[in-house]
Amino acid sequence: MTGLFITLEGPEGAGKSTNRDYLAERLRAEGIEVVLTREPGGTPLAERIREVLLAPGEEQMHPDAELLLVFAARAQHLAEVIRPALARGAVVICDRFTDSTYAYQGGGRGLSLERIATLETFVQGDLRPHLTLVFDLPVEIGMARASARGRLDRFELEGLAFFDAVRSAFLLRAKAEPARYHLLDAAQPLAQVQQAIDALLPTLLERARG
Ligand SMILES: Nc1ncnc2c1ncn2[C@@H]1O[C@H](COP(=O)(O)OP(=O)(O)O)[C@@H](O)[C@H]1O
Ligand SMILES: [Mg+2]
Repeated sequence: MTGLFITLEGPEGAGKSTNRDYLAERLRAEGIEVVLTREPGGTPLAERIREVLLAPGEEQMHPDAELLLVFAARAQHLAEVIRPALARGAVVICDRFTDSTYAYQGGGRGLSLERIATLETFVQGDLRPHLTLVFDLPVEIGMARASARGRLDRFELEGLAFFDAVRSAFLLRAKAEPARYHLLDAAQPLAQVQQAIDALLPTLLERARG
């Protein structure tokens, strides 16, 4: 049995975490086993790497170091949480995954996409999400929502140009592989975003039940 691997992607404040919980509730109500997790993080060790990645600090983190830390956390997360859950047939809903690496370290930091792809294969083998929901919204709206949430992390402190590049990278990936990605207009009121998620449920349930 192989489960269903769903990832939620998009910039800060897009509504990934809010809708991750919503989607999990809807699937659980149908009796589906759902594993909710996030990146970077998802295991105690990977959460420690997350803290290193998100904490603003005096020493500039080299983009290569950032990239390798992201994939180090991912290797642990895959081994401890994601692969075992999929192996027993669960639905895994992950708040950010490798598309964020392409968007932030690739688009935002300007690292080579080929190098990211090499690490992706090294760490994941041929494992890719079955479905990726991309929460898209204008950069200013996302930044305003994230700021309202409190103290900004090392990524949230980046400027408009960085987040423009992040957004473009997500959109480019969604466009290149429409079978895997589902684009959501995250600037809409939450009720409408959730209606769009509801519309996906019949297909998800069918796939989750194999
Ligand atoms: N569609 C929406 N309209 C207005 N506010 C929203 C919407 N979706 C989420 N929010 C709010 O924006 C903030 C960020 O949402 P969150 O789910 O934490 O985003 P993310 O996980 O993508 O950073 C939260 O305060 C949330 O309640
Ligand atoms: Mg979140």
